[in-house]
Amino acid sequence: MAATAARPLRRILLGYVGVPRFCGKFSRLRPVGDPYSALSVLSPPRSLFSRIPAGFRFFSNLAEPVARDKHFEGIYIQDAPVDTPAIDVAAAEADGGGGVGLPVAEGKRSREWTEAEKEAWSLLNRAVVSYCGSPLGTVAANDPTEVSLNYDQVFIRDFVPSAIAFLLKGETEIVRNFLLHTLQLQSWEKTVDCYSPGQGLMPASFKVRAVPLDGSNEAFEEILDPDFGESAIGRVAPVDSGLWWIILLRAYGKVTGDYALQERVDVQTGIRLILNLCLTDGFDMFPSLLVTDGSCMIDRRMGIHGHPLEIQALFYSALRCAREMIPINDGSKNIVRAINNRLSALSFHIREYYWVDMKKINEIYRYKTEEYSQDAINKFNIYPDQIPSWLADWIPERGGYLIGNLQPAHMDFRLFSLGNLWAIVSSLTTPKQAEEILNLFEDKWDDLVANMPLKICYPALEYEDWRIITGSDPKNTPWSYHNGGSWPTLLWQFTLACIKMGRPGLAERAVKLAEKRLSNDKWPEYYDTRNGRFIGKQARLYQTWTLAGYLTSRMLLDNPEMACILTCDEDLELLEFCICGLRKSSRNKCSRLAAKSQVLV
Ligand code: GLC
Repeated sequence: MAATAARPLRRILLGYVGVPRFCGKFSRLRPVGDPYSALSVLSPPRSLFSRIPAGFRFFSNLAEPVARDKHFEGIYIQDAPVDTPAIDVAAAEADGGGGVGLPVAEGKRSREWTEAEKEAWSLLNRAVVSYCGSPLGTVAANDPTEVSLNYDQVFIRDFVPSAIAFLLKGETEIVRNFLLHTLQLQSWEKTVDCYSPGQGLMPASFKVRAVPLDGSNEAFEEILDPDFGESAIGRVAPVDSGLWWIILLRAYGKVTGDYALQERVDVQTGIRLILNLCLTDGFDMFPSLLVTDGSCMIDRRMGIHGHPLEIQALFYSALRCAREMIPINDGSKNIVRAINNRLSALSFHIREYYWVDMKKINEIYRYKTEEYSQDAINKFNIYPDQIPSWLADWIPERGGYLIGNLQPAHMDFRLFSLGNLWAIVSSLTTPKQAEEILNLFEDKWDDLVANMPLKICYPALEYEDWRIITGSDPKNTPWSYHNGGSWPTLLWQFTLACIKMGRPGLAERAVKLAEKRLSNDKWPEYYDTRNGRFIGKQARLYQTWTLAGYLTSRMLLDNPEMACILTCDEDLELLEFCICGLRKSSRNKCSRLAAKSQVLV
């Protein structure tokens, strides 16, 4: 606690000033001055696009304000003050919502709320955390039977489904507050065991604390206390937080039409600090982001260090979203160029090297190894014996997926749901690959969904693999928690992907399945066993993102046109560009041009 209060104080002493709208002198503060000065460390991009077309961010039709889409007329009321609910909440409450209003996104299909929905809304409202009298986020879980640990905190990633549910319901204030306050928490200083979390890092979570005012025990003041990993179990740095923040910022703009928020200098600075952190050169030569183990939803050791798919999919999505939100001008052309280069290279890399289906596995099975040349087919020197025995039997004729990770001489063949689903949502995959991933989910329903959607990864690590890779983690035993457990929160991401691909029926099937148990089981965090039959060994009950994920799925299915607040379309312009600079060189061939694979089409 003492250390917590000391940090902001030090900042005041160093001459930082606060943004007046945030209450309390102990609020996290950020410096004034040139908002973009921090970007000077961004290394200039090496080549690449010969010119940045004016208005690049509008290439995607999704960059258009939501209000122009006829479907959204009932949602974004032009010229209405921001945060004005688009419905009469009082009337809606009187309508039997149990203290809960009807969704703004009422959709074409009007129907009665299910009992589960009513319960979930009232639990979601109970999970709301306030700061200085205003709603700011939701706690991770409200389980009266367990020690809270850090589940009484607002996690950035956990809040996203809550935020989408609130946005779709017309309650935008909480999301706006969340976006602005977390921006204040963005890292400016060293905090983790005297090491820097990296300027621009967003915390994994934060807590509202009451601290005595000026040493008095009578008056208290609220402060926001962020955790960048310095208290987190395993001290893991949350790489995904900033990416989710950018994704949510764009969704907020699309739903509310409040584009002024994303245009604010401090918000633009926040976007750029996150991008700066991700785009900075290091030793790595791949376009994918290099991270430590446990840097995302799976926040414990699970052998996902390196270039895990989840981070790559969120990174791609955040770059697409950021590109829409950064105004095009002289001051931004370098960053926009850097974004485009990275998007282009990253999509090629993932589509080409992470993709597996029956045909590709057969190719790997026949790989030659130890190839030394620019033209190597087996670029990462994958030894065919690495193909796990389960995979050879498991991979269906129809369908494929993106593997979990790729490193020199190592392919992690486990299927990670979030990364695959978000790769569909963000158009990191080709449309055909997206289709094939959903085919696989359908074909392997009994393995990936079974009794509860959705397996976080498949299959589980067992025996020696579990011992060595998880470090004998008793929470991550086979088919439990992160190690092959089933996480109902993933339902909303599955729903989004299904809607995007025109297959809402598949999502309906999953939602119906979840509905059978979630309320009876008290909204657990996760389920265990190969078929997802048991409530997880150490699962929290009343886990907020479980119920918010369910509500969001329901609302999206009722209003499928709303999916576009989170999805991105295929951007053909990006595929046109070859950024490696080797296109014309006779000595070295661009691997992308040399690639025989058809995954780019
Ligand atoms: C667990 C999950 C993490 C989540 C947190 C709070 O640590 O692994 O993804 O954010 O709980 O719910």
